[in-house]
Amino acid sequence: MNEITKIEQALSSDANAKASIGSLLDKQRKNYGLQPEFYLSDHIYRLDIEKVLMPHWQCVNHVSAIPNAGDYIVFDYDRESVIVVRDADNEIRSFANVCRHRGSRICETSGHARGGMLICPYHAWSYGLDGSLAHARMMPRDFDKQGFGLKPLPTKVVQGLIFVSLSDTPLAFDDCEENINATLGIYGWANAKVAYQSSVVFSANWKLALENQVECYHCAPSHPEFSVVHGQSTATEKKLIAEMNAKAAAQGIRVETRDHWALAALDGQEQAYSNRYPMTANACTASKDGSPLAPLMGKFQSYDNGMAVCYIGPMNHCLSYGDYGAIFRYTPKSLFETELAVIWLVRGDAVEGKDYDRDELTWMWRVTAGADKKIVEDNQRGVSSRFYTPGPYALPIEEKTVRFTEWYMSSLANAL
Ligand code: FES
Ligand SMILES: [Fe+2]
Repeated sequence: MNEITKIEQALSSDANAKASIGSLLDKQRKNYGLQPEFYLSDHIYRLDIEKVLMPHWQCVNHVSAIPNAGDYIVFDYDRESVIVVRDADNEIRSFANVCRHRGSRICETSGHARGGMLICPYHAWSYGLDGSLAHARMMPRDFDKQGFGLKPLPTKVVQGLIFVSLSDTPLAFDDCEENINATLGIYGWANAKVAYQSSVVFSANWKLALENQVECYHCAPSHPEFSVVHGQSTATEKKLIAEMNAKAAAQGIRVETRDHWALAALDGQEQAYSNRYPMTANACTASKDGSPLAPLMGKFQSYDNGMAVCYIGPMNHCLSYGDYGAIFRYTPKSLFETELAVIWLVRGDAVEGKDYDRDELTWMWRVTAGADKKIVEDNQRGVSSRFYTPGPYALPIEEKTVRFTEWYMSSLANAL
């Protein structure tokens, strides 16, 4: 019997789960990669979803993706599905995408609720944009529709970003809210619009995708395009940071660093991180050669040759350059499937074809996300081998990956 089969059997009994995961955690060496079972076990994947990830907030999209009353987004997360809709009063609401009759999915893909109704395709029960059950065909006269509205889910909108929680007891969000306002607020995200969105599914466990997302050790070998314009991890980084800060300060702009991300004890608060990084000398933005791509956003009157990153929760990473933004949204689909959606934002009044070219705007992160898919999938194939043993992380450049795996292990241990 191999190690994975043994752990699957041990975890199938609740009584043994704690001891089995405890023994895996005991094997873990500080600053080394995770034990293979964490990437390969179905049982651990279910614990990841239900115990580790559920209390966190997920960024679904930007409000400009649903500009009109009745527009809705369908957001799938593991086995769950959420309808995020703009109601008649322009409020953004979220509901479980589960019919109150016999439980069918109601909406398959994002769209518009014609006549202000979300209609279940199975037997046509119809729900208003506030989630209330409006019509239920051929039900008895005394059927009380009131008790059969859609299940509302906690929802927040900050700087135009829509966040949803699938938990009845989500983490507190005020620290994140402050962080988003102090970073993405300066870049004018509340008044941005979605220029393009695309998604790619990595055939890999969600933790491998995230370990990769938060380190730039791989940037030089795997992302030559990225490395041409980003000054991060270069010999001249300190000088570039000083120049970036001076150019921002000359415009009265200051973006605070906040480091409340992937730490074991956050007092019930959602994780937040923000920092600024320099572009290479003369690169204005993340384009092929650093040339400008779109109208400047927010408070920026000129390029400061820098960028901001803002992480919200474990799975949502926002980047902002002076002229465009990008949301990276990871969602687990199954043990070996993780979706990365990239959503590009430009200033709300920018016109495609006149103020920006969509292919040019999206080139850097389309190319980079494609390369990340390949390296993360190669990583999954490697850790699936019986010859895999965890190796040491490179410090300090993989410090956030260490922090992520330590946060993950402590979350799992605490949840048992
Ligand atoms: S399951 Fe939706 S109307 Fe029957
Ligand atoms: Fe990457």
